[in-house]
Amino acid sequence: MKMDVLLGLQWGDEGKGKIVDVLAPEYEIVARFQGGPNAGHTLEFDGIKHVLHQIPSGIFRSQILNIIGNGVVLDPVILKKEIEGLGKFSIDYMKNLVVSKKATIIVPTHKLLDAAYEKSKGDKKIGSTLKGIGPTYQDKIGRSALRIGDILSPDFNDKYQTLLEKHRTILSFYDFPLDELQELEKSFFEAIAFVKSLNLIDSEYVVNEALSGGKKILAEGAQGSLLDIDFGSYPFVTSSSTMTAGACSGLGVAPSRIGEVFGIFKAYCTRVGSGPFPTELFDDTGEAMRKEGNEFGSTTGRPRRCGWLDLPALKYSIMINGVTQLFMMKADVLNIFEEIQVCTHYQLKDGSVVDKLTFEISDIEATPIYKTLPGWNCGLDEVRSYDDFPAELKGYVSYLEKELQVPIRLVSVGPDRMQTILR
Ligand code: GDP
Ligand code: IMO
Ligand code: MG
Repeated sequence: MKMDVLLGLQWGDEGKGKIVDVLAPEYEIVARFQGGPNAGHTLEFDGIKHVLHQIPSGIFRSQILNIIGNGVVLDPVILKKEIEGLGKFSIDYMKNLVVSKKATIIVPTHKLLDAAYEKSKGDKKIGSTLKGIGPTYQDKIGRSALRIGDILSPDFNDKYQTLLEKHRTILSFYDFPLDELQELEKSFFEAIAFVKSLNLIDSEYVVNEALSGGKKILAEGAQGSLLDIDFGSYPFVTSSSTMTAGACSGLGVAPSRIGEVFGIFKAYCTRVGSGPFPTELFDDTGEAMRKEGNEFGSTTGRPRRCGWLDLPALKYSIMINGVTQLFMMKADVLNIFEEIQVCTHYQLKDGSVVDKLTFEISDIEATPIYKTLPGWNCGLDEVRSYDDFPAELKGYVSYLEKELQVPIRLVSVGPDRMQTILR
């Protein structure tokens, strides 16, 4: 059996949480492989909306084992709060949730460092979610981080103190106040005690043995390919590998065991935080998209920047991930437009026209060149199957399939589980 991967092809918030929840019944395991509580994955069903930050989006399906993989950075305080919040939904997290002992711990000072680094960058700031993601991955790569398995060791406190001293030195260099630290540490150690009671495992064995035993696994990406540490719009990226390859290293699965790669994208584009966004709209159209799509961050509440679909960027994400099936989200948000624009190329200052995301493209002004397509300009509430789609929406889907050379197997027409059209 091979592991399927679902990941975002844009700047995050494509609707990964909704689709993992929709697909979960076809799987036995859902596993997060990177990122941390910078993610906000929204699920809607039975009139209730849930936002998950650390827990995989298969948690509402009682037969699914949810794994927080080794590639994840884990905030114990946020995890504890999230599990407590699920209490009223009678979820058996001792049975349905396990955590890799090799996942990296976000400690309180990682969050302070995140804030210190951002402040020092001034108007060049990344627009981080301030959840401590960058500093935690820095410590992981720098070989000084704490891992979940460490909390079981009698010298965990000593290891913590060593890391704390290092962080204190850096924070004093930045002249960053530590007033909050005592309070943060109190909740941190309470949460550590709670996490100790969870199922902490060597998840790479569980995952590989499950595959060998014929079980189906879905790896759930966080963030999106354009925020990837290597291929995103660096430095305005997150600090993990958000791509298919990240699912291999973030779960301990060999590349030869990857099956389908589901690439998920919005029918337009959004981005929160700073960094280049060639098709961004600063006018009434952008504002209308934000309002119609309720484009406000699931983690920070910040308004998301909005713009038309960017084909060169989407083709790039499909290429680096080996996407085998596309899922198009939030088609209903475009209901309000008589015409829809799609960026096919960028024009550079010297007049040249390109359609590649080269190294230089992040730093130079790239003016999008658009193709205009007719909008359907009607509601999609009554749509139950692809056959019910207005002709213009079918036209949009087939135009994109022709350009992207990958089939669009799913179109989402609303936030609820039920508002999902499979082709
Ligand atoms: P994720 O981070 O990729 O899981 O996405 P988020 O949950 O951060 O953001 C997606 C938002 O769009 C959430 O509020 C979803 O409830 C909502 N959503 C998902 N699919 C659709 C859709 O097809 N139409 C509309 N209107 N909203 C959707
Ligand atoms: P999901 O999984 C959208 C963005 C931040 C910032 C940059 C770096 O919900 O799609 P970080 O906190 O990682 O240091 O922030 O990345 N970012 C996201 N944007 N969705 C996300 O996750 C994001 N996670 C991080 O806004 O620009
Ligand atoms: Mg999100």
